[in-house]
Amino acid sequence: MFKKFLLIPLLLIETHQVISQSKKQISPEQIESKITDLMAKMTLDEKIGQLNQYSGDWEVTGPVTNKGNKLQDVKDGKIGSMLNIRGYEHTRALQEAAMQSRLKIPLLFGQDVIHGYRVTFPIPLAEAASWDMTAIQKSARVAATEASASGIHWTFAPMVDLSRDPRWGRVMEGAGEDPYLGSMIAKARVTGFQGEGLGHTDAVMACVKHFAAYGAAIGGRDYNSVDMSLQTLWQYYLPPFKAALDAGAATFMNSFNTLNGIPATGNSYLQRDILKGKWNFTGFVVSDWGSIGEMVPHGYAANNYEAADFAIHAGSDMDMESRSYINHLAALVHNGKVNIALIDDAVRRILRKKYELGLFDDPYRFSNAACEKKTLNKPEFQEAARDVARKSIVLLKNQNQLLPLAKQTKSIALIGPLVKAESDMKGFWSVEWQNQDHIVSLFEGMQKQAGNTKLVYAQGCDVTDTSKANFAEAIKAAQSADVVVMAVGERANMSGESKSRANIHLPGVQEDLIKAIQATGKPVIVLVMAGRPLVFNWTADHVPAIVYTWWLGSEGGNAIADVLYGKYNPSGKLPMTFPQTEGQIPVYYNYLNTGRPAQDNAVSNYSSGYIDLTKKPKYAFGYGLSYTTFEYSNLKLSQDSLHNSDQLKVSFTLKNTGKYAGEEVAQLYLRDVVAQPVRPVKELKDFQKVMLQPNESKTITFVINKDKLSFYNDNLDWVSQPGMFDLFIGSASDDVRLQKSFKLID
Ligand code: GLC
Repeated sequence: MFKKFLLIPLLLIETHQVISQSKKQISPEQIESKITDLMAKMTLDEKIGQLNQYSGDWEVTGPVTNKGNKLQDVKDGKIGSMLNIRGYEHTRALQEAAMQSRLKIPLLFGQDVIHGYRVTFPIPLAEAASWDMTAIQKSARVAATEASASGIHWTFAPMVDLSRDPRWGRVMEGAGEDPYLGSMIAKARVTGFQGEGLGHTDAVMACVKHFAAYGAAIGGRDYNSVDMSLQTLWQYYLPPFKAALDAGAATFMNSFNTLNGIPATGNSYLQRDILKGKWNFTGFVVSDWGSIGEMVPHGYAANNYEAADFAIHAGSDMDMESRSYINHLAALVHNGKVNIALIDDAVRRILRKKYELGLFDDPYRFSNAACEKKTLNKPEFQEAARDVARKSIVLLKNQNQLLPLAKQTKSIALIGPLVKAESDMKGFWSVEWQNQDHIVSLFEGMQKQAGNTKLVYAQGCDVTDTSKANFAEAIKAAQSADVVVMAVGERANMSGESKSRANIHLPGVQEDLIKAIQATGKPVIVLVMAGRPLVFNWTADHVPAIVYTWWLGSEGGNAIADVLYGKYNPSGKLPMTFPQTEGQIPVYYNYLNTGRPAQDNAVSNYSSGYIDLTKKPKYAFGYGLSYTTFEYSNLKLSQDSLHNSDQLKVSFTLKNTGKYAGEEVAQLYLRDVVAQPVRPVKELKDFQKVMLQPNESKTITFVINKDKLSFYNDNLDWVSQPGMFDLFIGSASDDVRLQKSFKLID
């Protein structure tokens, strides 16, 4: 018995080590030497094969160019990486084919594991609303653990594109409008994906995308041109990329857009001067799907031969699906247009990652049946998804403390087109499991916690319906209940890639339905499910309680029920500004004051506003309510003037003055009052998310150093300038509770 007993723990330990064994990483010098030896044996075609990436057919994330026999190409060493191949059987089969190639160079398997693999987590913009770096990192860690167990080496995430335009469908994939919050989240996601390092089989390579400034597409139209000053590029759009790189991101992905007339994929300033030059990036750059070939329709290259020439010179290392490299690089070398050294550099960068992943030691170390079976969909992963989902929910309004739902509520009417939404709950970038998924809808989540409360349901209308034919049934359901919970918004496929919307109002007749239900006189709570900020002004002005739930993933319904029933006190804060209407876009909190600043709440009178609308957004960056209230007091600065080398300590007291325990995101903003070039009216420079019990107080401290006072001047030098700074501490960018000023002396 003893022997058998002893055996079991050893087996378990053995299994665990097989799964997450941290290979004794060979030294960087040894890796470089191995690469040199291998490259000495490689033909030009074999080198170019390493720069070529094709998609599998299981999932399609771009225009499919499904020509030729990919399996034979793998055996012939013409492919270095595949995407959209998942599951240990498929990855093992393709890796076996790669082992039949002359030099047996293993394939890299990449996948868009954007917010979860088997367990789907909230969309990234929702997670950004949690302002909880630990939860965000955990989300990425779970995604990496599941994906790597399923044979995937590399995720095309985090997407770190800052955006100030909710018409752009891909805001759902990023971290919103602020460079500081975006940088913190980029770091958390890279750290989560790569875990303890690429030598571990539960780590996947991160891929920071889309380099760069893709989120500034003119008109919010996906793939559209981007035109901005280099000072704006450096000040706002690059910092999250640099934060991801500093966190050790293994790869970058370039973007579809032109930047000031030059396609990112052919942009030496971005990829060579900044990324591989100034930032000394030693990983590799993969093009976004077909972006090398798209230099032809951009009008930058006459054909794919020229496009390949521009791209390899500009530092694009791997060609995703455009076939420009595999079809033209050899000729470019033979014609003396491309120096073999450029190709060797790209090959070395890619082989370096394959060695760091341990794929040359064991090409199959990620394709492990036992590992996949025992790792996917673990209860603790579902719990992690539920936890970050709760934290991502933003309470926008709660008149007369309608929420949380009173315990003695006898009946609740669940009304609206998204009450029973399941696949939508997963958002745009989720991995499809052919209905093997269990997604908790709002309806199911409420049912599981309803206890003796009776639930009645009526759809009322569909998301894009124009008909009000089913309003009567919904009104009847509302009249029969004590309280109404409505679920409205947009479909998950109305945001995401290639899903820009010119009109971001609630689609269809949903707001008419809300008006009809509100007219019954019953207390109404509206939940808005969406992948972007939406416009719903009537609802915002007339309905007593509004909760923004985004798309929360597998555990969405449970997380929402936890909040509505009061098991979790909502703590989310908006990572993006919500406009009153599309006409305000772009609207963001860190704007410049102008020479004629407009009043927030007044129409323009020879000031920088509108004559038909106030300047104020509907909801501000950093806004979100709680079931409790927080008091800010006792602001102190360690000194009221400082030299460059000093550190300024800021402290204040935060108190929970309500009856519920809750978390508050205390935000620190600065304004550089006079500077050349001018600086925004405020900029987020730090934040802390703090849990406080009712009546509990804590002293919160921030430290301001020179870096937080610095900015890029018009020479793109990172400088700070002496002068006055205004300091704001608050619960939102438009809810300043404490304010002081200090002076930077030199
Ligand atoms: C898509 C996206 C990119 C994604 C890639 C692979 O077009 O732009 O974010 O990683 O193709 O699916």
